[in-house]
Amino acid sequence: MDLAVILLTVLSLLSIANGAQYELTVLDEEIFSICPNSEPGTLDMNGLMDLSELKTSMNAEGITVSGNSTLRWDIQLEDRVQMNVNLLYFDRGSWTPTVFSQVFKDFCKSMYDSSQLHYKYWSGHITNDVRNKCVSVPGTKMMYETYSLSMTAGSLGPLREGSYKANIMLRAYDSMGAERATRICFEIKGDLFKIRKKR
Ligand SMILES: *[C@@H]1O[C@H](CO)[C@@H](O)[C@H](O)[C@H]1NC(C)=O
Repeated sequence: MDLAVILLTVLSLLSIANGAQYELTVLDEEIFSICPNSEPGTLDMNGLMDLSELKTSMNAEGITVSGNSTLRWDIQLEDRVQMNVNLLYFDRGSWTPTVFSQVFKDFCKSMYDSSQLHYKYWSGHITNDVRNKCVSVPGTKMMYETYSLSMTAGSLGPLREGSYKANIMLRAYDSMGAERATRICFEIKGDLFKIRKKR
C-alpha cells in the first residue's frame, strides 16, 4: 500500500501552518481503488506494483508499513513519467475538484527528492539501491524499512471536514513523445475530521 500516504501527502501540501490539526481516516481496507470511467488501457495500482509482499497494519497511531513491492508496469527506463495528483471533495452527492492539483512532468527526477512529501511518506523508506530504476523497470523489487505513517496531518490550511479522494494518474511517454499503451490510475478515499483541542 506504499502510497496510502498520497492522500496525506496531498493534504499536507495544502499546508498553511495555521496550527489546525486534522485526522484522516482512510476508508477502504484495500486503500487503493480503481478510477471510475477510465479509458481503455488504464490499469490500477496492481498494474503499477505487486504489493503481495507489502505488510501494513493499522492502529491508533496510524499505519505501519514494511516488506517489499515489485514493479510491474511495462514501460521503458528512458520514458518520461508524468504524475498528476488531484484532490476532490464530496459535495452534495458528487465529487468536485478542489484547488489542489499537482503535476510532476518528470516524476523520475523528483521521486527521491527529499523535499517532496512522497519521499517522506514513501520513497525515502526504500532501503535497497533502486534509485536508477524509477518506477520504470518491471521486476524491480523495492524493499522498505519498517516505518510508521501518522494519520494526523498537522498544520493544514482551512479545510472542510468531510470526504475527500486523491486521484493519481501516471503516464509514460517514449523518447518521441508518444504515450505508452498503458497508464496507471488509482484513487485513495478518506474522511477528514478536525481535531478539537480539549481545554
Ligand atoms: C522481501 O524481499 C526479501 C528479498 O527477496 C525477502 O527475503 C523477504 O522475505 C521479503 N519480505 C516479505 C515480507 O515478503
